[in-house]
Amino acid sequence: MSVAEYKGFGGVLLSADRLGDDNDPAVLLIPDLSASRAIWREVADALVLSGRRVVNLDLRGGDAAVELSTHVEDLRAVLAQMGSRPVVVAAGCGGWIATRALALDGAHLAAGLVLVDMPVDDGALETGTATQLVLPMLVVRGGFSPPECTAASDAFNAALPFGEHADIQDSDLAFATDRTEALLGQLLEFLERRQPREAMEFKAGSDPRTLRDAMGCFATGVTIVTGLDAAGVPVGLTANSFTSVSLDPPLLLVCIANTAGTAPTLRSARHFGVNVLQIGQQPASNRFATRGEDRFASLPWAPGQTGVPLLGGSLVSFECQREAVHEAGDHFILVGRVVRAQFEPHRDPLLYFAKISAPPFRLT
Ligand SMILES: Cc1cc2nc3c(=O)[nH]c(=O)nc-3n(C[C@H](O)[C@H](O)[C@H](O)COP(=O)(O)O)c2cc1C
Repeated sequence: MSVAEYKGFGGVLLSADRLGDDNDPAVLLIPDLSASRAIWREVADALVLSGRRVVNLDLRGGDAAVELSTHVEDLRAVLAQMGSRPVVVAAGCGGWIATRALALDGAHLAAGLVLVDMPVDDGALETGTATQLVLPMLVVRGGFSPPECTAASDAFNAALPFGEHADIQDSDLAFATDRTEALLGQLLEFLERRQPREAMEFKAGSDPRTLRDAMGCFATGVTIVTGLDAAGVPVGLTANSFTSVSLDPPLLLVCIANTAGTAPTLRSARHFGVNVLQIGQQPASNRFATRGEDRFASLPWAPGQTGVPLLGGSLVSFECQREAVHEAGDHFILVGRVVRAQFEPHRDPLLYFAKISAPPFRLT
């Protein structure tokens, strides 16, 4: 996260948190008139995890005398500096600013508008601002606190006559047990539909990096596959291609790259081990995926009943007898018959999802 300053109306500087990747679609968060950007921090972090670039803006000074029209000009100035059209998400009376800034001639400044707990705006009724909103919109009540009138859905929209071209989705979180989680769910669903991320594509023959990224979207655990070479020296490598295959007989598999230094040993050894890692073993996972490291140095390990190295503190250690080897492109599939499995199920697993992550990746 970095703190940026945007030029508002008349050159006044407005602070904002900037989070996420510049290439991701943008979301601009606006606080309630009486609040700071701190109210959006939890939501901002979750939006970044879901692949959004976030600008979390503070309104100009807490001076009650600031005219609404000044905030509106500030917002338009910030939007013009953002480089791409964000979805604007406004809390409470911040919605009054956003609706005015994005009415008719401001519509091109944003890709959508989300109003969270916006009180009915008499001023907008008078000026007819709401009737001029033609953006895709999400109206949420009860996002931060219970809505005053939960049955007001129709009445609320009747009181806020949004333009007939407005594409409004309406959501009432009155009965949500966790408001932030419910608000996030609504927000993410709206963003996915109204501001979809550009999907990456792998076609046969295009670059392996893209394929690897696509495969990385499948979350897995992480294992270290071990064996003893012909001289009885322990070898091992990090592998997430582990799969349970059969219960009767008890079979599992891992896919090993033909180019891996440990490949010749694992291809021919009568036995091999598969150690499923827990969160605390991330350093071991990195070490067994890096060449030139003394992988077993200062690691607790001991030979199992079949002689294969088993790593202490693993979630599970399987000892296997080689059952079959199948050639598969630039890898081979090593199938093992489990002869023994010792496990400690109360530990949390180390997970791999595009990058190794612990704790598990969660959106809400
Ligand atoms: C999370 C993760 C999963 C991996 N999964 C596999 C795998 O399933 N099969 C494989 O051959 N290599 C896999 N690798 C790559 C090897 O661990 C890496 O190339 C290692 O350096 C090979 O060691 P070696 O050449 O000494 O055998 C993985 C690496 C990481 C970080």
